[in-house]
Amino acid sequence: MTKPLKQIHLAAHFPGVNNTTVWSDPRAGSHIEFSSFVKLAQTAERAKFDFFFLAEGLRLREQGGQIYDLDVVGRPDTFTVLAALAAVTDRLGLAGTINSTFNEPFEVARQFASLDHLSEGRAAWNVVTSWDAFTGENFRRGGFLPQDQRYSRAETFMRTTWELFDSWHGDEVVADKATGQFLRGEPGRFSHHDAHFDIEGQFPVPRSPQGRPVIIQAGDSNEGREFAAATADAIFSRYGTLEAGQAFYTDVKGRLARYGRTDRQLIILPAATFVLGDTDADAQEKADVVRRQQVSGATAIKFLEQLWNADLSGFDPDGPLPSFDPVAGEKTISKGRASDRMYRDPLATSRQWRELAEAKGLSIRELIIEVTGRQNFIGSAATVAEQINHLVQNDASDGFILVPHVTPGGLDEFADKVVPLLQERGVFRTDYTGPTLRDHLGLNEN
Ligand SMILES: Cc1cc2nc3c(=O)[nH]c(=O)nc-3n(C[C@H](O)[C@H](O)[C@H](O)COP(=O)(O)O)c2cc1C
Repeated sequence: MTKPLKQIHLAAHFPGVNNTTVWSDPRAGSHIEFSSFVKLAQTAERAKFDFFFLAEGLRLREQGGQIYDLDVVGRPDTFTVLAALAAVTDRLGLAGTINSTFNEPFEVARQFASLDHLSEGRAAWNVVTSWDAFTGENFRRGGFLPQDQRYSRAETFMRTTWELFDSWHGDEVVADKATGQFLRGEPGRFSHHDAHFDIEGQFPVPRSPQGRPVIIQAGDSNEGREFAAATADAIFSRYGTLEAGQAFYTDVKGRLARYGRTDRQLIILPAATFVLGDTDADAQEKADVVRRQQVSGATAIKFLEQLWNADLSGFDPDGPLPSFDPVAGEKTISKGRASDRMYRDPLATSRQWRELAEAKGLSIRELIIEVTGRQNFIGSAATVAEQINHLVQNDASDGFILVPHVTPGGLDEFADKVVPLLQERGVFRTDYTGPTLRDHLGLNEN
């Protein structure tokens, strides 16, 4: 018996100015004007995407004590943007990243319940723990909580918001104009006491269409994966290739049974970029140009400094790698970047990079272009549709969160050319089948 075709899930990321975004492209527009958010969201909805996604960046990143201005500039408040988008879209899910380390469950629950009401059941919450003391300083909490406690706080934070969402069952608002009765019973009562939260009271927002927002999780550590397996509906991952994707997919889906959950209850969505062309060769040429735009000489040096943990500003990006090894110990050169944590063994990584540079005769910039490769899908629309479908059908993922490098028009070509091909193959919806994000993600079918 042949395996039934999996349905692909697609989301659109609005990244803000960072090192993926080519803000200098003549077609690039504002990263903060409402019209840009509207444009990307409406394109995603026209293409029947599952949801629109906002990351969270709470502090401008620094390197060598200075702001590095290609790194996530101008991310406005998530709830404000998503609430405004709810008014100009009908079906598209609206996903926001909100951390569980610096916030309070009551406030976050109230905000998501409100968003779910305003959007008629389209809210999703990407629960992140954030990790660095540098960001924490914005909240006067600094290095608040070591990693394992961040996840124990995240878990209880989320379960506390669930208690708040569930404190209304949905039948309490009577609003009987004849009798004058508005509410039935005593909705909203909660009482939660644990090591992190000691709260009780009455939650003021009636039950929203989805009851609880869809939960997305983006952590990658063992604690993060366990948290996702226990509680999340979807994972935003960084593993978009076949082997790495399959390994991640098998790992996290393998954790589900422990929590009495099935494969279909956790959807894996890696971040992915793409470059389309009329032919594969044309797309490759374009991709090379985009990579050089994304990794200028200055950016290449900044990337290298993150691994080397040293000031390399005197190095020529068109020259060879430093002859000395990365500086061991606490990372000090860059602040606020996830990649600090990706290079868990800088010495081993630097050796790999050196071998690669020597084997291929690469300069610093060429090497960084190669090792920080950001384009997952390069090719004609037919090639890209085939690549995406291949990865999903082979369980490297359940779909992708696409990150266009041009804001806000960078999704247009994908919507016009790739989506119809996926639809023709019967692996992507031609229309929404239900009103809520849970419907789009198939989470109501379990
Ligand atoms: C693909 C991906 C996207 C992420 N996006 C954000 C983000 O927008 N904001 C944020 O604070 N953390 C973000 N994170 C960080 C994680 O959510 C998590 O809080 C952090 O990595 C610490 O957890 P970990 O040690 O389990 O990875 C992201 C992580 C991944 C893998």
